[in-house]
Amino acid sequence: MDRYAVMGYPVTHSRSPQIHALFAKATGQSMSYERIGPSPDEFEAAVARFRSEGGKGMNVTLPFKERAFALADSCSERALSAAAANTLVFREGGIYADNTDGVGLVRDLERNLQCDLRGRSVLLVGAGGAARGAVGPLLEALPSRLVIANRTASRAVSLLEQLRQAGGIPADRLVLCQACGLDRIPAGPYDFVINATSSSLAGEVPPLPRAVFGPRTFAYDMMYGKGSTPFMDFAKEQGALRTADGLGMLVEQAAESFHLWRGVYPDTAPVLQRLRAELG
Ligand code: ATR
Repeated sequence: MDRYAVMGYPVTHSRSPQIHALFAKATGQSMSYERIGPSPDEFEAAVARFRSEGGKGMNVTLPFKERAFALADSCSERALSAAAANTLVFREGGIYADNTDGVGLVRDLERNLQCDLRGRSVLLVGAGGAARGAVGPLLEALPSRLVIANRTASRAVSLLEQLRQAGGIPADRLVLCQACGLDRIPAGPYDFVINATSSSLAGEVPPLPRAVFGPRTFAYDMMYGKGSTPFMDFAKEQGALRTADGLGMLVEQAAESFHLWRGVYPDTAPVLQRLRAELG
C-alpha cells in the first residue's frame, strides 16, 4: 500500500488524513495517509526517513512550508512563486514540490461558490505565507486588479518584490498588483476581499476601512471554524453581499495534491459536505 503523510508542528489538528482517506475510498486508491509531527529541528530528517521507508509523497503544513520547498530538486511555477510548498512528491529522480493552496482557493471560489474572478477587483489582506501562495493562482484567474494590503506595509511591498524576483509569475500579470498598508488601501469597493491573515486565530479582524466593502463584495476568509468567522461577521456588518470561510479551500487544495500523487481527481463536493456537517 502506498504511504503518504502530513507533517506539521503541531499536526494533531490536521484534517488532511480524514480528507485523503475519503478521497482514496471514493476513487478506489490503495493508500495510507498518516500524521507526522516532527519537532522543528527534525523536519528534514523526518522527511528523509519517511522517504527512505517508501513514502510516496506528503503534505506539509505550518511551520514547514518554506523548508519543504528548500528540500525540492524540482518544483511547479506556483511553488516557485510562493517559495513555499504544501505538497511533496517523492520520485525516482528526486523530490518534486508543489503549492496547491492558491489553486485550492481559486477552485473554491470559482467552482464551489460560483464566482467569476475575471475582470474583477480583488483585495488580498495579509502578507504571510497564506497570502504569498494565493497571489499566483489569483492572477491566473485574470482579475482586473489585485491589491495586497498588510498591517505591516513593508511586508506587502517586499512580498510583491520577491514574487517579481522569483520569476514564477509573468510580468504582465504582476503589473496588476499593488502593495500597501491597511491605512493606504486604494479606493474600493472591491468585488472580492480575501482575508489571508491569521487574525481570526486571536478572534480579531484586520482593521479595514469600511469603503473596501460594497453591496457587491464577496468577503472570503481563508480560516474556518464552527459557524462564521470574526472576519465574515465583520464583513457582513460593513455591508458585504456574501461571505465564505476557507473550508472549501482546504478540501480543494487536498484534491489537487491527491491528483498530483494518484493521477485521479476526486469529487470534492461530498467531502466538503461531510466536513461541514461535522463542524456543525
Ligand atoms: P501565515 O503563513 O499563516 O500567513 P504569517 O507569516 O505569520 O502566517 O502571517 C500572518 C499574517 O497575518 C501577516 O500578514 C500578519 O500581519 P503582519 O505582517 O503585520 O504581522 C497578519 N495578521 C496577524 N494578526 C493580525 C491582526 N490582528 N490584524 C491584521 N493582520 C494580522
